[in-house]
Amino acid sequence: MTMLAQRRRPMGQWARMLACSAVSVAVLTACGSGEEEARAPVAQGDSAPQTAEAPLQVGFMYVSPIGDGGWTYQHELGRQAVQAKFGERIATSFVESVSEGPDAERVLRDMVGQGKQLIFATSFGYQEYVQKAAADAPQVKFEHATGYKQADNVAVYDSKTFEGAYLAGIVAGSMTRTNTVGVVASVPIPEVVRNINSFVLGAQSMNPAVQAKVVWVNEWFSPPKEAEAANTLINGGVDVLYQNTNSPAVLKTAQERGAFAFGKDGDMSAHAPKAHLGSAVINWEPYYTKVVQDTLDGKWQGGNFWWGVKEGAMDLVKIADQVPQEAKDRVATVKAGLRDGSFAVWTGPIRDNQGNEVLAEGVVADEAFLRSINFYVQGVEGSVPGTGQ
Ligand code: GUN
Repeated sequence: MTMLAQRRRPMGQWARMLACSAVSVAVLTACGSGEEEARAPVAQGDSAPQTAEAPLQVGFMYVSPIGDGGWTYQHELGRQAVQAKFGERIATSFVESVSEGPDAERVLRDMVGQGKQLIFATSFGYQEYVQKAAADAPQVKFEHATGYKQADNVAVYDSKTFEGAYLAGIVAGSMTRTNTVGVVASVPIPEVVRNINSFVLGAQSMNPAVQAKVVWVNEWFSPPKEAEAANTLINGGVDVLYQNTNSPAVLKTAQERGAFAFGKDGDMSAHAPKAHLGSAVINWEPYYTKVVQDTLDGKWQGGNFWWGVKEGAMDLVKIADQVPQEAKDRVATVKAGLRDGSFAVWTGPIRDNQGNEVLAEGVVADEAFLRSINFYVQGVEGSVPGTGQ
């Protein structure tokens, strides 16, 4: 299965409405434009005036619409936050709905041509296009979210979304009545497999009887497919759902079906308050602030940054009132442990779903282990796409 050649389908009517529902005034120009204009070479969403001091030119490239309510919306909040923080010292802009294909390279090269000095490419499948564009633009600093390939002018960064998944799992394990939780999975990369497993580990930490089902949609953002996958899971006996896709479609479907679910990446509580058990929210602001500050100071050095609960980059928020106090207390304890380093989600004993021990008792997974997880933990049905298990 190819992971780097995902093509986003043209945005449907539903998605256009969604895209325009949650945007700020500063970016309204992007809404009516749809995919064609969104891919036009002119960057959209410019929100800072050019000044005599020549503001740092910063571009953001997004895989889904800024109104997705999740992944891209959070990046957009990060962009708005640094724009507000640094004021006229920087000029930010974004291009949204850029698919993980050759369009990505064209948009990146357009940004370079427009004089961007710092470019954030915010989805895994941009990786090869970032490498190509960066090789031809050594004067530009590139920041690639969730990738692993660095270069002199390419840094990689990510949020520890697996910590949020584990925290959500704690809640899920305390709420399931069927002892069957489900995940709507997006694109089969280690990050997503790690999140599925982390959610299940969290659920089993509260309720060892928990089993899990997974449906892959092979896209980051496709509300109809996300909803269909959620329905399939619910039809199969799942009563609490998680997702690694970008929209609130899974949460909304859960509400329609009388099941429970979570917000992911953004606070999705408003989309389906009856089904919502909590939102695992990414906060990109601390990292974007650091990178912009470093660049303004001439101290940008690149590297590999993976921030989580400890750094204020990840949190489980808005836990529903109906969640048992025991689970809320456990969430608080785990968060405190993640902050002070006394707790690690991936601590053995952990077995894969074939019964093999993958982490021995008391062993804490290192980063190399975490970044190469390509199995399901015990209790998850099926096998990871492409592993042929
Ligand atoms: N949504 C779009 N791209 C990504 C990605 O690379 N990681 C995650 N978690 N969500 C995404």
